Amino acid sequence: MTQGVWCSFQTDLVMMKKKLLPLVLLLLLSVSGCADSRCFCQVTGDLDDCTCDVETIDGFNNDQLFSKLQTLLESDYFRFYKVNLNKACPFWTVRSHCGLKDCAVQPCSPNEVPEGIRSSSHNKYSAELNEQPVDCEQAGHLGAVDVSLSDETREALLNWSRHDDEAERFCVVDDEESPDSQYVDLLLNPERFTAYRGPEAWQIWNSIYEENCFKPYTIKRPLIPNLFHSSSGSEAKTFYSWLEGQCVEKRAFYRLISGLHASINIHLSARYLLDDSWFQKKWGHNVSEFRQRFDSELTAGEGPKRLRNLYFLFLIELRALAKALPVFQQPSFRLYTGRPEEDRRHKELLLHILQLARSFPLHFDETSLFAGDEKEAAKLKEDIRLAFLNISRIMDCVGCFKCRLWGKLQTQGLGTALKILFSERQIEALPTSSSKRPSFQLSRQEISSLLNAFGRISTSIRELKNFRSLLAEER
Ligand SMILES: *[C@@H]1O[C@H](CO)[C@@H](O)[C@H](O)[C@H]1NC(C)=O
Ligand SMILES: *[C@@H]1O[C@H](CO)[C@@H](O)[C@H](O)[C@H]1NC(C)=O
Ligand SMILES: *[C@@H]1O[C@H](CO)[C@@H](O)[C@H](O)[C@H]1NC(C)=O
Repeated sequence: MTQGVWCSFQTDLVMMKKKLLPLVLLLLLSVSGCADSRCFCQVTGDLDDCTCDVETIDGFNNDQLFSKLQTLLESDYFRFYKVNLNKACPFWTVRSHCGLKDCAVQPCSPNEVPEGIRSSSHNKYSAELNEQPVDCEQAGHLGAVDVSLSDETREALLNWSRHDDEAERFCVVDDEESPDSQYVDLLLNPERFTAYRGPEAWQIWNSIYEENCFKPYTIKRPLIPNLFHSSSGSEAKTFYSWLEGQCVEKRAFYRLISGLHASINIHLSARYLLDDSWFQKKWGHNVSEFRQRFDSELTAGEGPKRLRNLYFLFLIELRALAKALPVFQQPSFRLYTGRPEEDRRHKELLLHILQLARSFPLHFDETSLFAGDEKEAAKLKEDIRLAFLNISRIMDCVGCFKCRLWGKLQTQGLGTALKILFSERQIEALPTSSSKRPSFQLSRQEISSLLNAFGRISTSIRELKNFRSLLAEER
């Protein structure tokens, strides 16, 4: 709040600069964090709905958590993620087949390319693709998922599923069981700029916000791209006062989705395709792309709010990790890859990271979130579960396969985080002896998506630091 006041105060000061230069310079120095970049002018201080501030999160993430988490995510247990990328979009016809193109032309061996892709690309490939604009071609190329795995990995993964099948599981996501599901090596498929943008990408986010965020149609979201310049401040005001009126969990839901959206956009700006020539591809930070998405003036004040939502998302996932510690502390829990020495080391690292999450001082007010009266909480939990299920189905409509991969992974990760937060009692009731059936379990996919999704958010926060200094350099 006070930061916002400072920002407009400072703009006024700039206007008066000529008359009062010496005094102004002095004042400007005292609010230089704000002057450095308009992207970050409100991204500081306390976050709403929790007793935490941005600076503490930055320090904790960048100095303590980030590198350990990256090390963990490079391990085999976490880098291979099983996903079904071949489900049909249940809501509308996905017109663009950009994402399919690369697989049709790439020399994938037949059993590397799932049936779904093979058959659908045959019907639609020729005629439609010739009409696709150049941008689409690039999106198809950059957005393709590399599904190659070495023979050795393939054999090891078979052993994993044998092991996982023996462990008792009572909650299997249908995706995992589907014969269309396949393991993808996440390290081979980094989340970065794919040229997938424009109306189709916009439709995805729009239907997530419009149809799945508990929002009535009459309330308009601020800053819908096409209405960009005409949208009045009053719309934003109506929207935010509606949001304030929601219960804290539904408000949280909106902010989580917005935070996820912000995080993905940060990655695309931080790993932008800067140079695409025949002899090299160079990926890196594109400050002007970042600014277009987050500068408070270019986004009518929305950018900094989105960044704050990213911090909020970080806190929610961090809290879920902290709460989940007892699940992973059970002696029977293993990060199974069939190599006991390595598995033991990685479990230790995982526990260390979770302990770190637990040590983070400024969490939510325990009584404010996910803790209403029991009946109401159960209803809310179900509402949110259904909304999440739906959002993960919307991800099947994403035409770019790499975006679909990361979209699915991150929604599953966030869904798992909420599952943990809503299951506090069951986790507390975990039996100490391994002979009893545990009251709460997480599948390999849930664990992998939880940590990988959190890794993405942690990376985003780390990237904000880079963008801060890049923006400061520009001045
Ligand atoms: C898979 O398991 C079999 C039998 O337990 C073992 O002989 C083989 O080495 C394992 N393969 C890999 C790649 O771990
Ligand atoms: C699921 O999402 C679709 C597409 O956005 C929407 O039409 C539908 O109403 C949603 N269903 C539920 C139960 O939220
Ligand atoms: C950075 O992104 C902008 C779009 O926001 C684009 O016009 C520009 O070409 C990009 N810069 C580089 C070096 O690719």
